[in-house]
Amino acid sequence: MTRESDGFGAAMPILDRLMHHAANERASFHVPGHHGRYLPQPLSAWLGQALKLDLTELPGLDNFHSASDCIAASEELCARHYGAYRTYYSVNGATACVMAALKGACGVPGQRVLVLGPCHMSVWRGLVYADAVPVWVPSPWNPARQAFDPPSPAALDAELRQWQPVKAVFVTSPTYPGFVADVRSLAEVAHRHGALLLVDEAHGAHFGLDPRLPDHSVAQGADVVIQSPHKTLPCLTQAAWMHVSRPDLADGVHEALLFLHTTSPSYLLLASLDAAQAFLRSGQDLVRETLDVLARYRPLEPQSDPMRMWIPTGSRARSARLAERLEERGMFLEYWDASGALAIFGFGQGERDVARFFEVYRTWCEEAGEETPETPWHGAFLYEAPAVLALRPSAIEHLPGRRVPLRGAAGLVAKRPISPYPPGVPALWPGQVISEQHVEILARMWMEGHDIVGVAADGTIEVCDA
Ligand SMILES: Cc1ncc(COP(=O)(O)O)c(C=O)c1O
Repeated sequence: MTRESDGFGAAMPILDRLMHHAANERASFHVPGHHGRYLPQPLSAWLGQALKLDLTELPGLDNFHSASDCIAASEELCARHYGAYRTYYSVNGATACVMAALKGACGVPGQRVLVLGPCHMSVWRGLVYADAVPVWVPSPWNPARQAFDPPSPAALDAELRQWQPVKAVFVTSPTYPGFVADVRSLAEVAHRHGALLLVDEAHGAHFGLDPRLPDHSVAQGADVVIQSPHKTLPCLTQAAWMHVSRPDLADGVHEALLFLHTTSPSYLLLASLDAAQAFLRSGQDLVRETLDVLARYRPLEPQSDPMRMWIPTGSRARSARLAERLEERGMFLEYWDASGALAIFGFGQGERDVARFFEVYRTWCEEAGEETPETPWHGAFLYEAPAVLALRPSAIEHLPGRRVPLRGAAGLVAKRPISPYPPGVPALWPGQVISEQHVEILARMWMEGHDIVGVAADGTIEVCDA
């Protein structure tokens, strides 16, 4: 179906239908239970008119699980913008998209997937879902940036030579702090070795909207690209989409995505995806103006997202002080920890807000410049060697677990990810045999008070009981 042939004159097919329905409905004799009229206060006051758009699969509103009308039309408009073969909407975040990408790309169980650099926890769930065999390829920790560097095409080439056959390569770009990989070259290398390239671009739905933004990964030759418009475009939380470039992958990926979805998708979320895809065409002036404002306050660097500002501090105390200074003035960061602090700017954010942010930031820089830095984070070398799993992710999920003291865990198999925080990336993956060196470094970090997700307050971790 095309926009021209289906009678959709407007650029927001889902929202149009919802508004049409809301304008014509005098009384609702259908779900949802608020019937467009009543929710307890103060929620109803906050939601206001939006309540009337919180509808379900009524005549004219299409069906998420077999979209052929307004949902399909909206997805097609989105696909056209990015140049994808198909775009599929998700009301279960990029999490469901990551899982579906892995499942759809792998097809049958037992396929090998190279996972480059740090990745979101949904990758683990996707590997279980796809019954795939991962090879973790670490990215180098960059102490100057206090962040992992994006993976290099040369490193991928070497890994692919070693690990054939590989069904898919999974990479996250941009990284959380906003550093962008050379996706075009990664795609060329992956394809040369007969592997698919799946890109988690959850933080890059706005890429390509201005020449000062990096290109998006569909344009760079990736086979599947996952984006969370709710993170960087004007869109409601939880709404995401994924683009598929290869026709032979589309049905499998879509089916895998629907498998992870409710049969009662929120039309408010679908409407916000619809509005976000319209913004891709109508919002370009706003994007340009926002970047003009940001460029007045700091240089926009190539190979990183100008809409985010990663401030490497190498110190929890310094990061906390910046967060406090901002909060005193009613401004909140996306995130901060002992490696640094992250600010994310939004399209349409007024210059006044940006100026206030930089005023606090510059004062903090002057204060921070006078301090001696703390001892650098020494856990980075936990990530230097690639993790090798003793068991497949799906097998680990089925094994019983037991708790043992971290100090006595060498030689056992991890059941849960163990992630020092920062950087929040597992140093041990489920299924990985725990080495003496892991125990030594992790135990030392834990004793020094470093947060380690997966290590309980009594110093125990969960291992496979087999
Ligand atoms: C890189 C990355 N991928 C995937 C996700 C999951 O996205 P969502 O919250 O939309 O499910 C996140 C969430 O923070 C993320 O940072």
